[in-house]
Amino acid sequence: MNLHLDDTPLTQIETDCLVVGFYQSDSLPPAAGAVDEASGGMIRRMVESGDIENGLGKTSLLHNVPGLGAKRILTVGFGKPEKLNLARFDRACLAAGKALRDYSFTECHVSVHDVAFDGSDAESRLRQAALAIHRSNFLYTTTKSPKDDAPAPLTSASFQGDRQWESAIQQAEAFAVGYEKARTLGDLPPNICTPAFLVQDAKAIAEKYENVSLEVLEEDDMAEKGMDALLAVSRGSELAAKLIVLKYSGAAKDQSPVVLIGKGITFDSGGLSLKSGENMMQMKYDMCGAAGVIGAFVACARLQMRVNVICIVAAVENMPDGNACRPGDVITSMSGKTIEVLNTDAEGRLVLCDAITYSEQFKPDVIIDAATLTGACVVALGHHATGLMSNDDELAGELVAAGDAIVDRAWRLPIWEEYQSQLDTPFADMKNVGGMSAGVLTAGCFLSRFAEDQRWAHLDVAGSAWKWGSNDGASGRPAGLLAQFLLNRSS
Ligand code: BES
Ligand code: MN
Ligand code: ZN
Repeated sequence: MNLHLDDTPLTQIETDCLVVGFYQSDSLPPAAGAVDEASGGMIRRMVESGDIENGLGKTSLLHNVPGLGAKRILTVGFGKPEKLNLARFDRACLAAGKALRDYSFTECHVSVHDVAFDGSDAESRLRQAALAIHRSNFLYTTTKSPKDDAPAPLTSASFQGDRQWESAIQQAEAFAVGYEKARTLGDLPPNICTPAFLVQDAKAIAEKYENVSLEVLEEDDMAEKGMDALLAVSRGSELAAKLIVLKYSGAAKDQSPVVLIGKGITFDSGGLSLKSGENMMQMKYDMCGAAGVIGAFVACARLQMRVNVICIVAAVENMPDGNACRPGDVITSMSGKTIEVLNTDAEGRLVLCDAITYSEQFKPDVIIDAATLTGACVVALGHHATGLMSNDDELAGELVAAGDAIVDRAWRLPIWEEYQSQLDTPFADMKNVGGMSAGVLTAGCFLSRFAEDQRWAHLDVAGSAWKWGSNDGASGRPAGLLAQFLLNRSS
């Protein structure tokens, strides 16, 4: 989908559909005011009669509005101006994008950046609007037969504004492609999206973008490095595990990289600690952490950000088998620390701990992992916030701020050392489960033991990477948060 700017006066724009924003109040934002004036007061009358709804996310389609080059107007409500913030702004724009799609517009012109509110500027509203319009246009098609009556996608959207905002549009486009990458990978079924498939996909990324290189570790390479925690998870699967290492060099060689690590369990059956049918049903999504870091990596490479990034994906399938890891097995991780695997369904931390240890050789500035790690995270935070845990206050702050800035939000949770004792066992340095209480935190505590000398953060996206039991599919999160984090560091 093509995003671009157009500074033709609003009333002269020729388009199938002009998108204009409204407050839930007597005042009209500038674009709505201009349209009202051109139409001889028709718009204001329709607001007063209630024919234009201005509640948050409400849309209406108007035909034959006089005085305009546009054939139709899609009105979008942004709710009460005093309640407006970037998250609400984003929600309204997503609703507008959905309406555009439902009406089968293939082209539109949008002017909602003038729907101002405290604490934001026109450029960031423009960026958010462009990103939301692009995102809401996504439709999964890979394994679905095309339908004749399916709504046509938007192929092009222009936004009111001139050259000075070119970078906002470029960012929106790159972020949208990043989200799209993450969603596409997340939604793919586990018989297609295997560890080997993720390698092929990474190859395509490395070929497509400048300054990107790829290295893949096979099981033999991992065994040589002593990555027995990761390999213990893979043992029950017919599919070979892959450790995918994508490198992007956008800054001076001596600038230490940001390492992004993604949990890429392409299917999580639970292993011998087998999940119930109900719980297993959605476990193709257990590689959404990987999908999110790959999405952020793509956004970064598209914008050729000035930062060095190493994106590591632990691509593994977790299956039960005669050869599978048993509950009770003690394994030795790459770090040398021993782990008693009491539940083979707590496999994410096993693949991540070796990936974290492996990443140390890159002398990272920071390490950030993303993972659909615990059901407990969803109990705690539901589907709107990503769970953030970190051993570094500054890094945690940067991540929260990045999430806020792009409305892909995270909320920090404590991994105080008091929680660590829940991982104690007489039989190894730690066990891989921490009992009933605070399951999201003990998973974070487990990982923190492998990042002791690093500035590290962990994003639990079990609730935010897709919406359980809905038909929505993957969200693409946390690709936006991480892309914004990288952008903030790009200098
Ligand atoms: N991938 C799951 C976590 C998960 C469950 C994410 C449901 C999204 C939805 C993870 O591998 C897992 O099974 N975690 C266990 C950990 C437990 C055994 C300590 C869990 O959350 O139940
Ligand atoms: Mn599991
Ligand atoms: Zn899992």
